Amino acid sequence: MPPLRSPSTVAVKRRCRVLLGMVAWVALGSMAHAAGEIERGAAASRNCLACHSFAPGQHMTGPSLGGLWGRRAGAAAGFARYSEALKKSGIVWDERSLDAWLRNPAALVPGNTMPFGGIADAGTRADLLAYLQAVSAGRVAAPGLKLPDLKQAAVASVVTAVRYCGDTYRVTTGDGRTHLWWEFNLRFKTDGGAHGPAAGKPVLVGNGMQGDRGAIVFSRPEDISAFVKRACE
Ligand code: HEC
Repeated sequence: MPPLRSPSTVAVKRRCRVLLGMVAWVALGSMAHAAGEIERGAAASRNCLACHSFAPGQHMTGPSLGGLWGRRAGAAAGFARYSEALKKSGIVWDERSLDAWLRNPAALVPGNTMPFGGIADAGTRADLLAYLQAVSAGRVAAPGLKLPDLKQAAVASVVTAVRYCGDTYRVTTGDGRTHLWWEFNLRFKTDGGAHGPAAGKPVLVGNGMQGDRGAIVFSRPEDISAFVKRACE
């Protein structure tokens, strides 16, 4: 004989099902909420990307924000441009300290050197914090700066000679062409990092604006004076 189910067991089961449904609904709801926060936070983080990468160890004007959560302020390995103020602040980065920092960096750490006024809107800060935490925990991919490898630069960009006369640089590249630049619009940069050019093989990069600006990237400062000769044709 099949076991008889008392009306009370049926009621309990039904209540359980309703309860489970509610739990799932709430969980899904909060996940969607978190996903929305992270998405909005990712959009807000574009304000940071001019100076910060989220890829661990990739430092720019500012230190890498990879693995930020729980780290002591001013302590990203390999970043050499921290202010004394930030290094001595004694802050550990968590939800509270980051919220205060992003609201008004100068108020939290007077004398810090982050050129950023702060974010007044509490909602935007909360989104940004959700995103920073997710990136820090590796739950979302960390956008980094995709630098071209200047050791692999095309021959037409590799600089073989630079001559300076009057207000003009004459830059000769590996394909035999000579490019003329007004001295004020040609920059000399160095990149001693993994993506920088090989020693003695500087690279002409990025014609900004209307193609009237450019830069020559050298692997080290000594190469600059070795390359640039005063010579008029
Ligand atoms: C114009 C450049 C610039 C912008 C924009 C910028 N930062 Fe910074 N940031 C810096 C610099 C430089 C420092 C180091 C400051 C110091 O040492 O006093 C820094 C430091 C930090 C630190 C402390 C890191 C550590 O290792 O202790 C955090 C956190 C931070 N920035 C987050 C952000 C976020 C989030 C944004 C975007 C909302 C942002 N920053 C926008 C340049 C910038």
